Amino acid sequence: MASERTKFGHDTTTDEVLDGIDLGGKLALITGGSGGLGAETARALASKGAKVVVTARDLAKGEGVAAQIRAASGDDSVEIEELELGSMASIRAFAERFLARHDKLDLLINNAGVMACPQDTTEDGFELQFGTNHLGHFLLTGLLAPALLRAAPARVVSLSSRGHQMSPVVFDDIAFENRPYEKWSAYGQSKTANILFAVELDRRMRERGVRANALHPGVIMTDLSRHMVAEDFEFLSKRSPSGELRFKSVEAGAATSVYAATAPELEGRGALYLEDCGIAEVDDSEGAQSGVRSYALDPAAAERLWAVSEEMIDEKLEP
Ligand SMILES: NC(=O)c1ccc[n+]([C@@H]2O[C@H](COP(=O)([O-])OP(=O)(O)OC[C@H]3O[C@@H](n4cnc5c(N)ncnc54)[C@H](OP(=O)(O)O)[C@@H]3O)[C@@H](O)[C@H]2O)c1
Repeated sequence: MASERTKFGHDTTTDEVLDGIDLGGKLALITGGSGGLGAETARALASKGAKVVVTARDLAKGEGVAAQIRAASGDDSVEIEELELGSMASIRAFAERFLARHDKLDLLINNAGVMACPQDTTEDGFELQFGTNHLGHFLLTGLLAPALLRAAPARVVSLSSRGHQMSPVVFDDIAFENRPYEKWSAYGQSKTANILFAVELDRRMRERGVRANALHPGVIMTDLSRHMVAEDFEFLSKRSPSGELRFKSVEAGAATSVYAATAPELEGRGALYLEDCGIAEVDDSEGAQSGVRSYALDPAAAERLWAVSEEMIDEKLEP
């Protein structure tokens, strides 16, 4: 349950959040915009005058989304760029192209993600969910930090999940080398990392006008569930107090991203975890179905994750 209730809630849509907001002159980058929440976030921001750069690992799929945005918001409203977050080389190449074309970046929406996939590794050998969801965005954000600073005040939005409640970051065994791989623990760990990343990024950049927040978008039927089988839906339903999953439309699912990126009341605020277009409470009670675990907002864990991530990618990021 959001603690600082705005006029918005579970079913608020992107267009409702953006009503009356002008994003003319703003540049937004949305990772994983080839479908689902990323595509809707890009559409909505462009509809209010932002120029959007949408990344896709499959350019043809991304072009389909871009064509729809161009048709609605104009030919110059969107650029589509290739980015594979499971490849440090792809991230570096993308960042280089981006910085060559754009001096500043107002809104970075770290949206792309994978969920509950079979055990695998990224191109660079990292556990797939941690590598894609966290380390990929960690490197990307670090490389783009100069453009964020030039745009200050700027915002970074990390798509986390209620799934963060399924695991803290297990610093002693991030890669499941000494315990059996469990796909939901791996997802939970990566989504906790998304929140901790926002906490530490915000600490590092807030004095210079770049604020970072994380969020749970809701439960939305998208391609994210591509690896799920019937038992997984049952497992997730059982975790819900009503015994059923309460779904949102894609427009409502992307609303909290758009809220985090644009809400005037969030100006100058960071290190928050948002849900249903509001700020969520810390809740460590067993069976908590909303809110954020304190381990995900712990500044010491956030600092540690930053150091561990730098070690893993073998690069110091100093935004
Ligand atoms: N849907 C939900 O109920 C829900 C709930 C909680 C949190 N979330 C979070 O919301 C975010 C968006 O999810 P969604 O529901 O919109 O899922 P989605 O429809 O599957 O979209 C995910 C996007 O990420 C991209 N992606 C996946 N792996 C990638 C990689 N290695 N490199 C680059 N891009 C990659 C996908 O590209 P392809 O099109 O090529 O696969 C797609 O564009 C995720 O971070 C997810 O964890 C979603």
